[in-house]
Amino acid sequence: MNSILDTQRPRESKIALSSDMPHRPRRLRRNANLRAMVAESQLHLHQLVQGHFVLPGTGQAQEITSLPGIQRYSVDRLLPAVEADRKVGVRAVMLFGLPQEKDASGTSSQDPDGPIPQAVRALKAEFGDELSVMTDVCLCPYTDHGHCGFLEGEEILNDISVAALAEMAVVHAEAGADFVCPSDMMDGRIGKIRTHLDRKGQSQTGILAYTAKYASAFYGPFREAADSAPSFGDRKTYQMDWRNRREASRELALDLEEGADMVMVKPALAYLDVISDFADQSSVPVVAYNVSGEYALVKMAAAQGLADEQAMTLETLGAIHRAGADLIITYHASEAAHKQWLPQ
Ligand code: PBG
Repeated sequence: MNSILDTQRPRESKIALSSDMPHRPRRLRRNANLRAMVAESQLHLHQLVQGHFVLPGTGQAQEITSLPGIQRYSVDRLLPAVEADRKVGVRAVMLFGLPQEKDASGTSSQDPDGPIPQAVRALKAEFGDELSVMTDVCLCPYTDHGHCGFLEGEEILNDISVAALAEMAVVHAEAGADFVCPSDMMDGRIGKIRTHLDRKGQSQTGILAYTAKYASAFYGPFREAADSAPSFGDRKTYQMDWRNRREASRELALDLEEGADMVMVKPALAYLDVISDFADQSSVPVVAYNVSGEYALVKMAAAQGLADEQAMTLETLGAIHRAGADLIITYHASEAAHKQWLPQ
């Protein structure tokens, strides 16, 4: 009978009283305690790596408009920032350099006194094994044309670029980097870098390969921060096409074969399928890069009052972890640590 009572008290309707429903997934969601007990994944702070931009000189701390909350630091200013982060549980950093000089072949990328080698030496002297130091190995911040390899006309040459990257990797390793991280996407660079490191006595330096790095619109803020935008064209002849998934597995097989210690998918959010594939297929840890554009979107939405920043950050990072990333490189690490958003 359709009385007014039925509509006012839906809990007592005939359907709700039916006992013919053995599966009620909501039983496991009834309270926060239970939800925590049955959560399928939990990200920890020690899985986050904070990205930093390093300037030459001293006394420099520059705001980056497109990356709110992130600054470019000279080495002397980087140290206290990293120390404060280390105290609250950030265990690793990824460093990007802004050199004094740029030229066609990115000569300054091999300068042992450039901002990155200096920063690495200073950080390792201060923190030793308490801080894992990773360095981005790529030519684009060091070349005047902003491409990640050498040019012939407008063509990006592969093999001589790889030779230069291997030299750069050795300079970082000799400064004390724990991991060198080639982000150039030239063919065969992992193998060449491994061989060159070993020949130079740097067999303990690891390689975190930017294995599936896509030509992405999400790098915009980074290119402003690192002053590394290409002066002409784009990066589509070396970075991957975002329409491709299977191709990432091919790059993974090659990087594993060539000796990568860890493999990366970049960007992260629009590539959760690729992260998931890597989690299934990789024999080494899987890293995801939560890139500048992903960070900026969250920051700008929060600044506009459109999002709860903590909730959105944790959902974003948590999803990347759930998809299969063991480690996440992210500009959110420092804030998440200081605000105690994650268990250690
Ligand atoms: C250098 C490099 C880039 C990023 C990391 N290393 C830029 C690019 O390939 O153009 C992007 C990182 C980010 O957006 O946070 N090749």
